[in-house]
Amino acid sequence: MAKPRVFIARLIAQEALDMIAQVTEMEVWPQELPPSYEVLREKVQDVDGLLPLLTDRIDAPLMEAASKLKVISNLAVGYDNIDIPEATRRGIVVGNTPGVLTETTADLAFALLMTAARRVVEADNHTRKGLWKTWSPMILLGQDVHHATLGIVGLGRIGAEITKRAKGFNMRVLYYDTRRLSRTKERQLGVEYVSELGELLSSADFISVHIPLTPQTRHLIGAAEFALMKPTAVFVNTSRGPVVDQKALYEALKSGQIFTAGIDVTEVEPISPDDPLLTLDNVIITPHIASASFATRKKMTLMAAENLLAGLRGEVPPNCVNPKALRG
Ligand code: DGY
Repeated sequence: MAKPRVFIARLIAQEALDMIAQVTEMEVWPQELPPSYEVLREKVQDVDGLLPLLTDRIDAPLMEAASKLKVISNLAVGYDNIDIPEATRRGIVVGNTPGVLTETTADLAFALLMTAARRVVEADNHTRKGLWKTWSPMILLGQDVHHATLGIVGLGRIGAEITKRAKGFNMRVLYYDTRRLSRTKERQLGVEYVSELGELLSSADFISVHIPLTPQTRHLIGAAEFALMKPTAVFVNTSRGPVVDQKALYEALKSGQIFTAGIDVTEVEPISPDDPLLTLDNVIITPHIASASFATRKKMTLMAAENLLAGLRGEVPPNCVNPKALRG
């Protein structure tokens, strides 16, 4: 029997490629930059399985071109790059990589929070530019993290891990979410629920966003929301760029409406070198690396390979966002 055909949209860990190669006829996109949408649409024409990255848009016309496609295994926990209702309608199962990147992502979010609070990048630049003349009581002052109030927007797996880190710094943790946790879970985590986003934004010293990108969350944080924050506030986003109105973020940082920000995601990725945000000293921008540790990326890749192979066997992948695709 002919082996199923798969397209892997980027070079991934060899161990995962070996697993996939054993049972499929596989093509791997060898370049550093993603295939263009048009190229990807061509590549999927004859495949049974596709392993894309979050940079690859998998929409209805692309699925239309891929008439044999049974499984899409996204190498990410987020899947806003895929039209899930369309995949479900077509009986295509979609896999993702939850869990394995939770703590690594929380580590980076907390690193951004601390770095932005204490202006670590600015301070490093100060040293490199030869501006360190003497110990000075007034330069590069930042905000205390310990005993401050952290406001988490979206308390899921990653938000819960941030909370654990915050507790180590004696922080008070508030959270806003469309769904409230059980009182037991709140007590376990030591978090307080705030039913209005605005109330959270105006009460917190630090705000960290952990929500998926959906039509409802696009630009959830815009000019009106930044206006509610304290002038000492530190804003962190490691979720998806379009959740924040980036122009409003720029204005808030430039005008001193908020103190600093640390973001791992931008509205358009990569951010344009001409983006005004890059002219500001009070923002740290990392290139979507929250899950980028050696161990976590390997786990994500193996999980994506397992999801892909399960889908090819006609099974619901172990981590599947639309099991209904098979169950009808
Ligand atoms: C994800 O998995 O969705 C992250 O954004 C990248 O690890």
